[in-house]
Amino acid sequence: MKILDGKSCSEQIRQEIKQQVTDITAAGGRPPHLVAVLVGHDGASENYVAMKVKDCEQVDFDSTTVRYEDDVSEAKLLEKIAELNADDSIDGFIVQLPVPKHIDENKVILAIDASKDVDGFCPENVGNMMLGLPTFISATPNGIMELLRRYNIETEGKNCVVLGRSNIVGTPMAMLMSRKGNPGNATVTIAHSRTRNLKEVCSNADILIVAIGKTKFVTADMVKQGAVVIDVGQTRVPDDSRKSGFRNVGDVDFENVKDKCSFITTTTGCVGPMTRASLLQNTLKAYQRRQ
Ligand code: GUN
Repeated sequence: MKILDGKSCSEQIRQEIKQQVTDITAAGGRPPHLVAVLVGHDGASENYVAMKVKDCEQVDFDSTTVRYEDDVSEAKLLEKIAELNADDSIDGFIVQLPVPKHIDENKVILAIDASKDVDGFCPENVGNMMLGLPTFISATPNGIMELLRRYNIETEGKNCVVLGRSNIVGTPMAMLMSRKGNPGNATVTIAHSRTRNLKEVCSNADILIVAIGKTKFVTADMVKQGAVVIDVGQTRVPDDSRKSGFRNVGDVDFENVKDKCSFITTTTGCVGPMTRASLLQNTLKAYQRRQ
């Protein structure tokens, strides 16, 4: 069993990006600029945005955080998005999800200009991805593809089960794994909460990618001997022994599953850092497209 070390892989990517920024600024250019919009005070979202800002600092990007309270109106948020779309000093921006219930998430995503949508969530970018055209690919699936690529994990002809069908992880992940390419060329099944014989489906997977949002959902009896297991899940559960009062738990029962795997991600510090590195890659791409 080998642990997929997303932390060091993402560090490598950050170093590569930082070098490119050094070259840009040495040639007299300005650094890429990412804006994160954060609505409310959800602990996990605050944490994600803080880490994204830190990543920007590490690679010498400019970054700005725009904060709103929970009760900001949808109209005000959409107004801000229009402003960010029009601002030439900004290469890309994200609105951290989820947004409060009174705001229509789809309206938010549709309002973001495709050329600045470094999350790759808007229909034009999702459509381009489906067609294999140049685009911004959603950061989590893209980070997982990069991890498979950097570890030279064979995917061609393999049975890949993606557990979860969200717009931002499961669905694009399945698309990327099935299309022509390396990684890619896999035979993909999308499994979800309504799938029958889930155990049987999962235990047929050479590559199992789990993004279902249920702690320790994947148990050892659902995993084929020698499988590659990628755990996207991160759920905060209360833990009084921690200073923070919580710990993150994945969707895979790591301790009991790990010995069956050829490769497995750790619950924390693997897919998360790769996701953040992908966001930096997309932002650099957005910057380069604007030159
Ligand atoms: N919430 C959880 N993951 C993400 C992400 O990748 N981007 C945004 N904008 N919000 C998220």
